[in-house]
Amino acid sequence: MADISFFSGERIPLELHKVRIVQKLDLVPIERRLEAISEAGNNTFLLQNKDIFLDMLTDSGVNAMSDKQLAAMMICDDSYAGSATFTRLTEKLTEIFGMDYFLPAHQGRACENILAMSLVKTGNVIPMNYHSTTTKAHITRMGGRVEELLIDEGIKTTSVHPFKGNFDLAKLKALIERVGAENIPFIRLESGTNLIGGQPFSLENAKAVCAMAHEHGLLTVLDASLLQDNLYFIKTRESACKDMSVRQITRELADQMDIIYFSARKLGFARGGGICIRSKKLCDSMRELVPMFEGFLTYGGMSVREIEAMTVGLEETMDMDIISQGPQFIQYMCEQLIKNGVPVVTPPGGLGCHLNASEFIPQVPQNQYPAGALAAAVYLAGGIRGMERGTLSEQREEDGTEHMSSVELLRLALPRRVFTLSQVKYAIDRITWLYQYRNMIGGLKFVEEPSSLRFFFGRLEPIGDWQTELVHQFRKDFGTSL
Ligand code: F0G
Repeated sequence: MADISFFSGERIPLELHKVRIVQKLDLVPIERRLEAISEAGNNTFLLQNKDIFLDMLTDSGVNAMSDKQLAAMMICDDSYAGSATFTRLTEKLTEIFGMDYFLPAHQGRACENILAMSLVKTGNVIPMNYHSTTTKAHITRMGGRVEELLIDEGIKTTSVHPFKGNFDLAKLKALIERVGAENIPFIRLESGTNLIGGQPFSLENAKAVCAMAHEHGLLTVLDASLLQDNLYFIKTRESACKDMSVRQITRELADQMDIIYFSARKLGFARGGGICIRSKKLCDSMRELVPMFEGFLTYGGMSVREIEAMTVGLEETMDMDIISQGPQFIQYMCEQLIKNGVPVVTPPGGLGCHLNASEFIPQVPQNQYPAGALAAAVYLAGGIRGMERGTLSEQREEDGTEHMSSVELLRLALPRRVFTLSQVKYAIDRITWLYQYRNMIGGLKFVEEPSSLRFFFGRLEPIGDWQTELVHQFRKDFGTSL
């Protein structure tokens, strides 16, 4: 990794790429932002891009591609079957992960569908460090149950633990003894654990988990969607790995796994996904689902252009200069916000900067969706779109009571190589301003609440007049500024 210090002593991340294609952004006045957020039912998923300045909703499918990726997209082979583009992808995956079999799918959740349909039966238990929304939905749809075996430190929002995504080995051992290995179809390890703030596991922990799994004859499955951030953290935080190359770390991790699946909307800076499988028998048992639900075995619902971009993107993931950009920008953003007193999840992880809504606006009770309210307030303050990661994203219990989330976070994703440092500084500035007026922020209530996936489609309104008051305060402090 490049070591670059500034003569001034300032500690800032430096982009090791230059920008050659740009997209114009609009920053609309706060009065329009107020209209836009109410038109969107106070749900950032329902905002239109024309009203958004910094789109920090997700890093999925919105990472910047490199010149090499774009060039590769021009030489793709779009044969329906036996495409050379697909061969190039499988060869790259075998080179990186050392697995001989690969099934393509149109994105990460499609891989989860195939895995759940082939491996999960009613009454099964699937241990994992932490769930991801689509993973859990596919497992429960097949009658299975998720058991989260994260170390206790993992759900503490402020911590200095370098690997908050680690499994608790004692909990894993106890679970296997309690439910019996015969009821566990596989153990799932999620790299760059998404819902707890993009937190990594260590190579040492992953090896210990897999050793225990194999001792009991259990399959090991890695969700590698956020692997690139996890690799960066293993290299920089795990002393035993500091002299290993990213490629060596990847292979040592992959060698523990029976299956590796990923969303290429994240891993490989493209779109699509797939499942790498060690054994032919296992591959054959899942294979027929691909042409049934995705597309033929040599494209799996993906465009060949995206497959070419993915092949190059996977190679670029082995380059520490490239994968360090995201975590370094996130670290900068978190550290500056902490300096300004703003509560964020620590240590900084991958994926994005996570504001802790429970501490930012403790006056808003969980049943008034503090993380959702903060998402609306941050949009008002700066035209910045984040994603609610709290009670609003949960499903109500069967009797209609709210299922309170263990954390109330607002995720501000930093898609890789997309935002500049001055844009990140702008976000820090507007969030810091908002923090000064945090007492003004109130809650939200549903006006339209769908029975499932309410966070995608639901519409809410502010409780009280806090949004208009925030707009007046902004005008007082910023004058005519956008
Ligand atoms: N696994 C993880 C860890 C993810 O973060 C995601 C998606 C998926 C699987 C599903 O992949 O979107 O290609 O179907 N996370 C996105 C996000 C949606 O915004 O964090 P997909």
